[in-house]
This record gives sequence, structure tokens and C-alpha cells, in this order.
Amino acid sequence: ASTLGAQAAASGRYFGTAVAAGKLGNSTYSTILDREFNMITPENEMKWDTTEPSRGSFNFGPADQIVSHAVAHGQRMRGHTLVWHSQLPGWVSSIGDANTLRSVMDNHITSEMTHFKGKIYAWDVVNEAFADGSTQHRSSVFQNVLGNGFIEEAFRTARAADSSAKLCYNDYNIENWSDAKTQGVYAMVKDFKSRGVPIDCVGFQSHFGSGGPPSSFPTTLSNFAALGVDVQLTELDIAQAPTTGYSNTVKACVNVSRCAGITVWGIRDSDSWRSGDNPLLFDGNGNKKSAYDAVLSAL
Ligand code: XIL
Repeated sequence: ASTLGAQAAASGRYFGTAVAAGKLGNSTYSTILDREFNMITPENEMKWDTTEPSRGSFNFGPADQIVSHAVAHGQRMRGHTLVWHSQLPGWVSSIGDANTLRSVMDNHITSEMTHFKGKIYAWDVVNEAFADGSTQHRSSVFQNVLGNGFIEEAFRTARAADSSAKLCYNDYNIENWSDAKTQGVYAMVKDFKSRGVPIDCVGFQSHFGSGGPPSSFPTTLSNFAALGVDVQLTELDIAQAPTTGYSNTVKACVNVSRCAGITVWGIRDSDSWRSGDNPLLFDGNGNKKSAYDAVLSAL
């Protein structure tokens, strides 16, 4: 096939991108989006600071714009993200009472998932809960006030809110099998599966340096998949967009039957959160880079 989405679909996978609602009106942007991608992740519009800026007051307008675009163009959506320490409003991070925070967290998950019910293929229920260089959770208001059980609580609440969406744990620096953080997340997923805590997928953000993915990335993906979860590459970008790095990353997914798809974190280099690294598949003018061809042939 001649586009990323169609080529991925030929093996039952998707190829997605992060989208900013404010750019949908740019025709260069939306032309590439609708030609190449069949999965969309809102880059910021489903995060807590946008969706519940004050307690109980929900704002789904910006995300609804993206969902409408996806519906109109036959694209599926990843929901990103329900529980995360970052882009979290101050009114949440200042809660010190466990019962209050538990009910605020559960209400946020339930309200947001209910609003988008039937329109989301997979949710990043919890994002980046583990500490770098460690097998343990990072410090956050959720961890500090609710304790280790907050992740399980979030996933159980999510399943009750929408039993059809896939529920993912999403993180970065979990691509190298020998990293302590990878082992910590692996142990959590294994524990969840053994105790029947609902989890369907693990998202590997895949924000790589110019060296591309670690050589153990294929091992990491197949070891997680063997636990009985899908694996997804959820925020791929690689500094300087080397063809070998992109091609090795795509092959790592394609070689694992439970690798459901790949999302790049933006369309053009100028759209990237790390635009100084030129890490994406299209240049600032919307032209395909050599990394694009490498990805298309590896899919
Ligand atoms: C980034 C967005 O791309 C930026 O626009 C925003 O300012 C900060 O967040 N991990 C994640 C994503 O899970 O939500 C982050 O997105 C990048 C790192």
C-alpha cells in the first residue's frame, strides 16, 4: 500500500499520530493526517488540566473537535490520558485526604470515559506512574495520598465505566528490557493479570535519541505480549529521524503478533514537542522525509 495507515492495516495494525485540535484547520496538516493516519491521539486535549480544570466542571470541547474529525474521516482514537502527575490542575495536586482524592480520581475517570464511550479504541488509563531508574512508583499526589493501590483502583474504575475500550498502562523508558523501570512495569502487569485486575495493553511511548531503540526492544515487546496484553508504540519520535532507527522500531512491532499498532507523536517536525530534534516523518513543509520511506517499507 502507498500510505502508512493502509500498509499497517494490511497486517491488522493501525498507524496513528498525535493531533492538536488547533491545527485541524491547517490544510497541509489535515491533508497529511487524513491521507496517512488511521488512529489519532489528542496531544493535550484529553488531559486533566483541559478536561476538568476545576472540580466537577468538565470541558470536553477541544477533544470533541478531534473526535468529530476522526469520525468524519474513518479514523479510530486513543484516549490520552486519565491519571497522570503532569498537566494536572493545582486543585487536584493539593488534595491531602485519601477519601476525597479517591472519589475525585474515580469521578474523573468515569465522567471522561462516559462522555467518550463508544468512540475510543484504547485509553491510557494511567500514564508515567513509575520512577526512572527504579522498579517503584514515582512520587505524585496519587501515589503519596492513595498509596501503591491507586493504579489498580484506576483500572478497575475504568473497566466499570466502559467495558469495551481497551485499557492501557503507558510509560517511557520501559523499552530497554534490562532497565529497572521496565522490570517494575512488567512485574505490575504480571501481578494484575494473575489477580484479574483489568488491563489490556501496555503503551511504550518510544521517545528515542538519535541511536534509535535499544537493541533489546524486540525482547521487551515479546515478553510483555507473553503476559497476555497487547503492546502498542504510543508516542514514537526519534532525534534526527534516522532511517535505521525508524525501521528497527517498526520491525520490532511488526515481529510481535500482539503489537497492535504504532503512533508517532506529531505529523511535521514543526508540530513536534521536540521540534529542535526534527524527529518526525514529515518536514516543516509537509514533505515526506527519508524516515517516512523507511517506515513504509518496514511495515
Ligand atoms: C506533550 C505534548 O506533546 C506537549 O504539547 C505538551 O506541552 C506536554 O506534553 N509523554 C506524554 C505526552 O505522555 O502526553 C507528552 O506530550 C509527551 C511525553
